[in-house]
Amino acid sequence: MADLSVTVNGLKLPNPFVIGSGPPGTNANVISRAYDEGWGAVVAKTVCLDASKIINVAPRYARMRAAQTREVVGWQNIELISDRSLEVWEDEFKQIKDQYPDRILIASIMDEYRKDAWFEIVERVQACGVDALELNFSCPHGLPERKMGSAMGQDPEILTDVCSWVSEAARVPVWAKMTPNVTHICDPAHACLAAGCDGISAINTILSVMGVDLDTLRPQPTVEGHSTAGGYSGKAVRPIALRMVMELATMMYGAGGKGANASEASTNHGSNGNGLHALGGAFPNATLSAIGGVESGDHAAQYMLLGAHTVQVCTGVMIHGYKLIHQLCAELDAFMDRHGFKTIEDFRGHSLQYFTTHADLVQRQADQKAAKAGIVTEDAAWEGDAFVQQSDELVGNS
Ligand SMILES: Cc1cc2nc3c(=O)[nH]c(=O)nc-3n(C[C@H](O)[C@H](O)[C@H](O)COP(=O)(O)O)c2cc1C
Repeated sequence: MADLSVTVNGLKLPNPFVIGSGPPGTNANVISRAYDEGWGAVVAKTVCLDASKIINVAPRYARMRAAQTREVVGWQNIELISDRSLEVWEDEFKQIKDQYPDRILIASIMDEYRKDAWFEIVERVQACGVDALELNFSCPHGLPERKMGSAMGQDPEILTDVCSWVSEAARVPVWAKMTPNVTHICDPAHACLAAGCDGISAINTILSVMGVDLDTLRPQPTVEGHSTAGGYSGKAVRPIALRMVMELATMMYGAGGKGANASEASTNHGSNGNGLHALGGAFPNATLSAIGGVESGDHAAQYMLLGAHTVQVCTGVMIHGYKLIHQLCAELDAFMDRHGFKTIEDFRGHSLQYFTTHADLVQRQADQKAAKAGIVTEDAAWEGDAFVQQSDELVGNS
């Protein structure tokens, strides 16, 4: 049995599986259930100072199913952050930490672009004993209309201000949660880490329109005949999230290995176990929590091979329930056993070294073809039938 425990920003988790912010962490009751089943940590549903402005609608979910199996492959939501007051949450954060002092509770927070607002929410939430903060810079619907959520997350200058304020006030580790609804996810992430955040969580949902009903001609989910663009999650988003995690890890840990650096990455991998820190990325000590479409231990292993320390699951829990954790741990353990990995650090970031530029792929293929063409480099390679051709190939420019 491999050791699945991880230590991130000084926090020790029994396994790397974290409940992602959303319905599976929406009150103390369900958070307790997650701990009882064995989840490594919980990020609670996002809270803000004034929940009276948070008004949800129904229906607010829509699902994409595979044609044959009817399996849910994609999930869309137009749900806002928590509509429960911060006072209620303060009581529940304290209650959860009293009941589960050894388990990791991460508060997800969001507010308007005002220093006093961020100071207040950080101070009030950390006073309840939560272990870490996740800054929600990524909710794609509703809140951006008030310049919150992904509206902040798309603007590195605003992020620099907010993360500096939070870093000044916070006494616990801080992760910044990134929106995928940008062209270059590394730009906002770099701003957050440079301003003092300890880690990055990625990704939140992808801005989407789920479909249009061909009978009513109304977009879905339909609320009073109308709709609004929502956030897409679940299995379907995993390839996009994997790409973004790869880019973030490369920026943070420097293990991308482009062109000539590819061999350097490979060498360093051999020398230090995971090849990340030796390459001197921009933020070698920052942590990375990967999110998007995780429903199996193999999915989690893929994110870890691309540099993630922990993996968050939201939609997967909505589809399969809290017991999913048992399957996730068993599958990750089986993967590690198969390769002889004893700890997650033994393989974290390993596959980053295999990413390179397209031009480098072309060069590698040309090199391989030339090698296969069989230019003689050793005496034993001379062949009677090809002797004249081989002689020709060895003639220089004379
Ligand atoms: C119904 C629903 C509500 C969500 N609410 C929040 C939220 O309040 N705060 C937040 O940071 N992310 C929220 N998310 C985003 C998830 O935490 C996660 O980043 C995203 O769904 C991708 O992961 P997944 O495929 O495992 O769901 C929500 C997702 C869903 C599906």
